[in-house]
Amino acid sequence: MPPASSSYARRDVLRLGAGAAAALVAARAVGGSAAAAAPAPGSLLPLTEGPILKPLPPEWFVPLGTNAEMRWDSVDPRRYLTAPERLFVRNHTRTPIIDARTWELRIHGDGLADPRTPERAHVLTYRDLRRLPARTVTTVLECTGNGRTLFATQQGTPVSGTAWGLGAVGTVRWTGVPLSLVLRRLGIRRDAVDIQATGLDEPFVSGGVDYGRVRRPFPVAKALEDALLVYAMDGRPLLPDHGFPVRLLLPGWVGIASIKWLGELEVSRTTLTSPWNTKWYRMTGPDYPADSPPLTVLPVKSAFEPPTGLASGRRTVLTGRSWSGAGAIRRVEVSTDGGETWQRARTDRARGSGWTQWSHPWRPRSSGEHVLLARATDVTGRTQPDQVPFNDGGYFFSAVVQNRVAVA
Ligand code: MTE
Repeated sequence: MPPASSSYARRDVLRLGAGAAAALVAARAVGGSAAAAAPAPGSLLPLTEGPILKPLPPEWFVPLGTNAEMRWDSVDPRRYLTAPERLFVRNHTRTPIIDARTWELRIHGDGLADPRTPERAHVLTYRDLRRLPARTVTTVLECTGNGRTLFATQQGTPVSGTAWGLGAVGTVRWTGVPLSLVLRRLGIRRDAVDIQATGLDEPFVSGGVDYGRVRRPFPVAKALEDALLVYAMDGRPLLPDHGFPVRLLLPGWVGIASIKWLGELEVSRTTLTSPWNTKWYRMTGPDYPADSPPLTVLPVKSAFEPPTGLASGRRTVLTGRSWSGAGAIRRVEVSTDGGETWQRARTDRARGSGWTQWSHPWRPRSSGEHVLLARATDVTGRTQPDQVPFNDGGYFFSAVVQNRVAVA
């Protein structure tokens, strides 16, 4: 029999840390049934009207339904990090307000050393989490569909989906607890393969179909490598829109892998699926096989901070950023003549696995329209092609972007 729902069962309490202030993970009965259908642990306060709670000044953001895109012309070349207030938001439904005092992360599954049903999940509270050793990392966060509209504007093949320009990306300094630490202290089986992360936002309903809570599985290997249970951005608690009180972070991977408002982790000995890795966030279309795998590592991309005040004969310094989910950027080349000639840009050292800032001096020789291009190559040798094959979801537009600018 599982213990009563309101009390911790002493015999099931696992010590996650040493000493009196040790954080505890308690096995505790939670009501309701499994996974996507379960009521949210932690009390969800009444939802507010809008899908996004933080202010969205029009000079910083382009609103896109339940989402908001960062405007590249609002990016200050002198600032490396994207402030939480300025980071893009991608919500399948809307931002829930969650009380950290009652928030719980339920960890269960047959991949745990001591297998647990959802009803007998290990429960980690916010206080538990904050007492565990933390790590701070700087990484790029990018939506899989960032650049989607460029399939239409640059390649003439429009796709449906959130109409992102290039601003569904940012570089953030995150603080949280390595998931590996929690899993090792709980104990997982050698044959555990997958972990399903589930958010506490409302179930996602589209076209009359209820797909359940936003959730996506990922390999145990990634969990042990660098996954983080994040509670702070820029040294401050997460903003509600970015997953308060706790979100998952899978560095270098597609944004959907970093489940916000994390409520549940299922550790499994068998491969797990969800619509977010079978129906969406994988490549489908004429150039892809029917069994193409779920998307994981982010491609190589570059963006300019749009130059202003361009005039023929006047020297300017073009600036921008390049990033890759596979590692550091090794080289950035810039073309100011639509791709006829390329010059190497000056690059700054990236922080952690954040983006690389670059700059390139330019003195336009004529007035009128000019096409600026930037092309990056990462440490693994991946670079940006002139074109990318079409895919139905409009994912991974990593081709070189044509930036048309007017020179006076
Ligand atoms: N997690 C939950 N629970 N619900 C969501 O809608 N959106 C995902 C991911 N995690 C999402 C989620 C997607 S598609 C992206 S790109 C990132 O969160 C966006 O994170 P941000 O809104 O903090 O920028």
